[in-house]
Amino acid sequence: MTQANNSGAKPKILVARRIFPEGIARLREFCDVEYNDTEFAYSAEELAAKLVGKDGALVTGSEPITESAIKNAKSLKIISNIAVGFNNFNLPAMTSAGVLGTNTPDVLTDTTADLGFALLMAAARRVTESEIWLREGKWKNWDMGGMLGVDIHNSTLGIVGMGRIGQGIAKRGLGFGMKVIYHNRSKLSPELETECQATYVDKDTLLKQADHVVLVMPYTPESHHFIGAKELSLMKPTATLVNLARGGIVDDGALAKALKEKVIFSAGLDVFEGEPKVHPDLLTVPNVVLTPHIGSASASTRHAMMNLAIDNLLAGLAGKRPPNLLNPDAFQGS
Ligand code: 8YV
Repeated sequence: MTQANNSGAKPKILVARRIFPEGIARLREFCDVEYNDTEFAYSAEELAAKLVGKDGALVTGSEPITESAIKNAKSLKIISNIAVGFNNFNLPAMTSAGVLGTNTPDVLTDTTADLGFALLMAAARRVTESEIWLREGKWKNWDMGGMLGVDIHNSTLGIVGMGRIGQGIAKRGLGFGMKVIYHNRSKLSPELETECQATYVDKDTLLKQADHVVLVMPYTPESHHFIGAKELSLMKPTATLVNLARGGIVDDGALAKALKEKVIFSAGLDVFEGEPKVHPDLLTVPNVVLTPHIGSASASTRHAMMNLAIDNLLAGLAGKRPPNLLNPDAFQGS
């Protein structure tokens, strides 16, 4: 697929993090690969230095692709993200330098929506909190008022960010008899609203009316601390909050305080500000379920993401339009 460049040499690529062995084998067939065969991310400086002299790179959502890294990597043609979110890319800088950027949408939609529901149910029904209590040997009697949670079925589900994953959450909610309200940068088409049986509301209405709030929007300067102390105070004291999107969308310190003071009932978080670090106060409150950014982590979905990211990379290196091109303005071909 990917032809050698004019000098007959294979294109040089960086694989910035360990991937599955068959992915590396596939890439080595066509490319000269520099491989970070570890689960540790390069620092921003190391990554920038490694990109110099490369034609392409396969990265994950935690590798920052900065303007200066792009400027110094003069031969770079494409950066392929193994993630649907691409807030790690400085896309305008990539576009002006003619560097293609790609992501991995669709293949992870249902797997990620499933985890959103798992977090929602675990937070509302105190699943991890009661398991810890049981493991600590505290279960001595059945207790009428023990570990009371809040119901999912027939409640109101508020979704912020109604892209593919948000719509997947909505459809799961319908199966539980939930009323679905949503907030998004733009309203869905009438057809999609009907399909998801979802009603558009403004941000404050969503926070006030929802029994369960799920965040699935992209992280942008506008969505930074979309949920802070003020927003939490608008929510019902019986409400749960799930962040499935990106750290930084929720002010984690304010959330920990609100959970401690029972401003809201509970939360489920898969993403954190400054992850893999977790705000220390979140580790001390019992009414939060914490997972280490595993939204897309099913075996089949992670393989599908890797293969799609490789398809994108190889297409870009071959001068073809990658299937999931984020910046068409940077593409010179037809
Ligand atoms: C990735 C994600 O696994 O796709 C995304 O945007 O958040 C996850 O599915 C993670 O970002 C590593 O790239």
